[in-house]
Amino acid sequence: MKEKLDLLADKKAKALLGGGEARIERQHQKGKLTARERIELLMDPDTFEEIGMLVTHRSHDFGMEKQRFLGDGVITGYGKINGRLVYVFSQDFTVFGGSLSETHAEKICKIMDLAMQNGAPVIGLNDSGGARIQEGVVSLGGYADIFHRNTMASGVIPQISAIMGPCAGGAVYSPAITDFIMMVENSSYMFVTGPNVVKTVTHEEVTSEELGGAMTHASKSGVTHFACANEVECIQRLKQLLSFVPQNCEETAPSLPYALGNEERSALRDIIPDNPNQPYDMREVIEGTMDEGTFLEVHKDYAENIVVGFARLAGRSVGIVANQPAFLAGVLDINSSKKGARFVRFCDAFNIPLLVFVDVPGFLPGTDQEWNAIITNGAKLLYAFSEATVPKVTVITRKAYGGAYDVMNSKHIGADLNFAWPSAEIAVMGAKGAAEIIFKREIKAAENPEEKLQEKVDDYAEKFAHPYRAAARGFVDEVIDPALTRKKLIKGFEMLQNKVSNLPRKKHGNIPL
Ligand code: HXC
Repeated sequence: MKEKLDLLADKKAKALLGGGEARIERQHQKGKLTARERIELLMDPDTFEEIGMLVTHRSHDFGMEKQRFLGDGVITGYGKINGRLVYVFSQDFTVFGGSLSETHAEKICKIMDLAMQNGAPVIGLNDSGGARIQEGVVSLGGYADIFHRNTMASGVIPQISAIMGPCAGGAVYSPAITDFIMMVENSSYMFVTGPNVVKTVTHEEVTSEELGGAMTHASKSGVTHFACANEVECIQRLKQLLSFVPQNCEETAPSLPYALGNEERSALRDIIPDNPNQPYDMREVIEGTMDEGTFLEVHKDYAENIVVGFARLAGRSVGIVANQPAFLAGVLDINSSKKGARFVRFCDAFNIPLLVFVDVPGFLPGTDQEWNAIITNGAKLLYAFSEATVPKVTVITRKAYGGAYDVMNSKHIGADLNFAWPSAEIAVMGAKGAAEIIFKREIKAAENPEEKLQEKVDDYAEKFAHPYRAAARGFVDEVIDPALTRKKLIKGFEMLQNKVSNLPRKKHGNIPL
C-alpha cells in the first residue's frame, strides 16, 4: 500500500503544480494569482473538494501526447462560501494558457450538471487563451456544450463569471450568458476579435485594454457588471454579491438577523431640492432608506441615469432600481432601459423582491435614441417589470412623467404597493412643457405672452405637480412623509413576503430583444 500511496501523492503533487514553477512565476510576475490561489481566496477554509484533478487531454496532434498536465488547465469542484454550497471552475493559465480542450470542457460541464442537480450557484474564474488550438473542432464543441448548459441553467441557479485574464473569441459567450460578470482592471480583457484582427479588418489601432478591458466593458459596453481594482477585490465583491442571492430559483435569499428599532429616518426629508429641476443623488435616498452600509451597486459605471443594485432592508435581500436625477436628469434611454430590465429579470428569476425609486422626466428624445430603437429597448424595461411576479414596491420621490411613469413599476403594471413623497409630481409632462403645448394659441395671442405662460404653468402645476390626483385614483396607495419611508417599506415587504402570483401558462414570453 505504501508504494501505491506514494504514487498517488506524487500525482497530486504534480497536479498542484499545474504548468510548472516557471509558468507559475510568470503568472505572478503579471500580478495575477494562480487558479488554485484564487480558489483558496474564494472558498471557506478546508471546504473545497476537487473533482477531476487527474484528468488529462486526449490529443495526439502536434506532439501533444508528450505534453500532458494533470487537471488539463482547469480546476473544478465544490465547496462553501460563507457556509453555502457553490460549484466552481478556475482556469489555470499555466497549462496551455488555460485554453479549453475537450476534456477541460468536460470537467466544467460535469460541475455544471452537479450544480443543476443539486441547486447551487456556479462560479467561473476565467483566465484562458480560448479554444485549445491544437484540438480544433472538439474544442469548439466543448465550448458549445458549456454554452448550452449556461442557457439551461439560466434562471435555475445563479451563475457568476469572474474574468481574471484573457477571454477571447467564442469564450466570451459563456460569461455573457451568465448572470453577472466581474472583471479585473489592467489584467483581464474580453473581446470577440482582438486588436490584431481589428486592425486588419477596420484599420483601427486599439490596445487590448481599450478594446476590451474592465473599464471599457464597465462603462462603454455594459458587458461587465463590476470592474475591480485587483483580484482580491474581485473575489471579495463576488462573495458580497453571492450573499444577496438564493441558492436556486426555488429558494429565497438568506436574511440576516435584524431587531426592529426606531426606523424613522428624518434625513430623508432634506434630500429633494426646492427647485424641481435641481439634481440630487438618488444614492442618498437608497442609502438613507436601506440597512446601513449594505448597498451593493451593480453596473455602477454604465448608464448612470439608472441605479441598480442589492441592499438589505431589515436584514432581507432586496433588488433596487432607481432613476438617477444626478445624471442626465434621470431620463430613461436605451442603455438605462436595458440595464434596468436585465436586473429586474434576475431579481424576478431568483425571488428577490424589487424596490423602485422614481424620479424620471421621461424618455430621452432625439434621432440617436429613435434610430437605435428606444422603442424596442424601452419596452424591455416595461416588459420586465410587468412580467415580474416577486413583491414589487415603488416610491415616487419627485417626477413621474409620461410613459416613464407607467414603465417605472407603476401600479398599472403590477406594483403591489406604490408610495409617493409629497414632493412627487405625477403628470404627462412637466408644467412648462404642458402649458406651452396645450395653451400655445392662447399664449401667443396674449398681450403679455410671458405672463400668460407663467399663469398657465402655475395652473397646470397646481392641477398636476403633486401626488394627490394619483392618490385619489388609487394609483398611489399612500402619500408619505419621507422620514417614514423605511418603516413603510419594512412593513410592506413583510406583508408581501408570501405573495403568490402566476403568469398565464405559456412556453415563454417574447420580450422585445
Ligand atoms: C493552446 C495556447 C493558447 C490556445 C495560449 N496558449 N493560447 N495553447 N491554445 N488557444 C499557450 C501558449 O502557447 C503558451 O504556451 C501559453 O499558453 C501562454 O501563452 P503566451 O502567448 O505566452 O501568453 P501571453 O503572452 O500572456 O498571451 C496570452 C494570449 C495569447 C493573449 C491569450 O496566448 C493568445 O493570443 N493566444 C491565442 C488566443 C486565441 O486566438 N485563441 C483562440 C480564440 S478562438 P507555453 O508552453 O509557452 O507556456 C476561440 C474560438 C472559440 O476561442 C469558439 C467558441 C464558439
